[in-house]
Parts: sequence; C-alpha cells; structure tokens
Amino acid sequence: MRILSGIQPSGTLHLGNYFGAMKQHIELQDEHECFYFIANYHTLTTIQDPDRLRELTRDVALDYLAMGLDPDKVNLFRQSDIPEVTELAWVLGTVTGKGLLDRATSYKDKLARGLRPSMGLYCYPLLMAADILIYRSDLVPVGKDQVQHIEMTQDMAGYFNNTFREVFVRPEPRLNEAPVVPGLDGQKMSKSYNNTIELFGEPKSTRKKIMSIKTDSTPVEDPKDPESCNLFALLKLLAPPTEAAEWERRYRAGGLGYGEAKKRLAELYEQTFGPRRERRAQWAARPDDVEDVLRSGAKRARRVAQEVMADVRDACGIVVAAD
Ligand code: TRP
Repeated sequence: MRILSGIQPSGTLHLGNYFGAMKQHIELQDEHECFYFIANYHTLTTIQDPDRLRELTRDVALDYLAMGLDPDKVNLFRQSDIPEVTELAWVLGTVTGKGLLDRATSYKDKLARGLRPSMGLYCYPLLMAADILIYRSDLVPVGKDQVQHIEMTQDMAGYFNNTFREVFVRPEPRLNEAPVVPGLDGQKMSKSYNNTIELFGEPKSTRKKIMSIKTDSTPVEDPKDPESCNLFALLKLLAPPTEAAEWERRYRAGGLGYGEAKKRLAELYEQTFGPRRERRAQWAARPDDVEDVLRSGAKRARRVAQEVMADVRDACGIVVAAD
C-alpha cells in the first residue's frame, strides 16, 4: 500500500495537530510505504509572507523528525520540489467541471472565516487531487474535514480516465481516529481560537498555560464527571492507561482538586515532549542534514511523479521537447 499525506505549514503545531494527524502519520511508517510532503503551495493561499512561509516549512520538517519520523522509512519532502504536481493540477482543471469545485465546503468555510476568495483558494482541491494522483497513492490518511477533498479526487481521476485512458488509480481516504483534543478554554484546540498547547512550547510558559486550563467550579470534595471535563480529556491523552483509569476513579470519588490534576498534566507534557524538544534542537542545529532528508525524499517522489506525468501528457496529446 502506498500512503500519502500532505501537511500544511500554516502554523506552529500543537497537541491537536499531533493527536489528530501527526501521531498516526508516524505510526504508519512501520507498516507501509509512506509519502509525506509539506504542502507549501497550498499554504500560499493563506500565508503571503515569504520569510514566515520559509520558516514554517522548515518547522514542519523539524517537528516530524523530532517526533520520530524515520527518514529511512518515509519519503518526506516539500510539495514545491515536485513541479509536476502543479502541472498536473492544470490538466485536472481541464477535465473537471466548475460545479464540482462550487460544492467544496472547505472553500465556503474559509470565506466565512474571512479569507479572500482568490482563485488559488478556489482551485485548492485541484492541487490536492494532483498531489494524491501523481504518486498513484492508495490510501490518504486525513481528518474528517478533508474527506470531501478525497472524494473530489476520486471524481477527477474518473473524469480523466474516462476522457483519455486509465492512467490514475482510485485513492481511498483513511480516517484518522482523531480523539477530541480540547483547548485551554474547552473548545476544540485550534490556532484560530487561540487556545492551543504547542508541541514544542517553551517549558515555563507552557506550564503556565496548562495551569490556566478552564475547569468548572465544582467544590473539591464533590464528585466530578470526567466525561465532560476538558482537563481530564487531555490527561487521558498523555497519561498511561492505568494512570488515566486512576484519575477517572478519583474524579468520580470526589475529593480531587483540579490544581493537582493540572500539575500532573504539566509534568506529563514535559515527560512526553521534553526529550523531543532536545531532539528537535539537535536537528535544528544541522540544517544541511534536514535539507538532505527533504532532498532525498523529493528525489524518490519525483521519480514517480515524472513517470506518471509522462503518461498523463501522452494520454492527452501534450508534447514536450525530449531532454
Ligand atoms: N488539505 C490538507 C489539509 O489542510 C493538506 C493537503 C494538501 C493534503 N494536499 C494533500 C492532505 C494531499 C492529504 C493529501 O490538511
């Protein structure tokens, strides 16, 4: 099975990103052939600050390497190192009806959040379909919000194959079993709500953030409902299962103060991500090695992309000079 996924370098990664996608991405490296890329052209639809985009692109690579992505197992690369992808996006646009893109809910959501309705934003699903189809990907691990994009990709593969000939394989979405990761205020953890706990936050300020997690005003002695407590949800993600069960029992028994649970959460955060922070710093100190990882990932990915794109051009009668 060939697995492919793209990660937008659109902000500093937080626990929601980690438990929602990154963790599954890294686990899959042991079972399948993986292609993971940093979707910098996609992010150009929202970040138009060159230094910031360069920095965030590098950060995604560092974050994945720090969290245990093995560059010998995974092809990690930048989307922009595979120019055939943007070429394919154009071709897909010529066989895809405008109506399909009109139905994209993520475009409507982005406008509702105040983004400028650029053509890039509108055509986002074409580029995403090109990302997927150009590597003949079988499975695409994504969150729920991206499933429609995969279905659109399946449609586009069909439009092309029917118009010309069978070039593309049909990719399937693989839903990340994403637990709910509440933010500091109890809403879903998200950059746009400004309620995140960063993966590699500075220890002191992260501890402060954890201590500020919003909880209800049930008195210490009263029993508490773990199911409805955002602090418990975070504890459950970070604590070993036996410890999480013990917290659950203590919540229900009464006599538990939220302060104690927060302190333990801060400790667990540090135990989990502290050592990773050091690993990240080690990679960050060797930018040439990070560049090598990205280049060799791109080299392998590009070989596939060039082959598929040659097939695409041939199928539709586009001639290019031979080198
Ligand atoms: N749209 C995806 C997101 O915002 C990122 C992405 C771009 C992607 N191209 C992809 C995901 C191809 C999977 C496959 O999360």
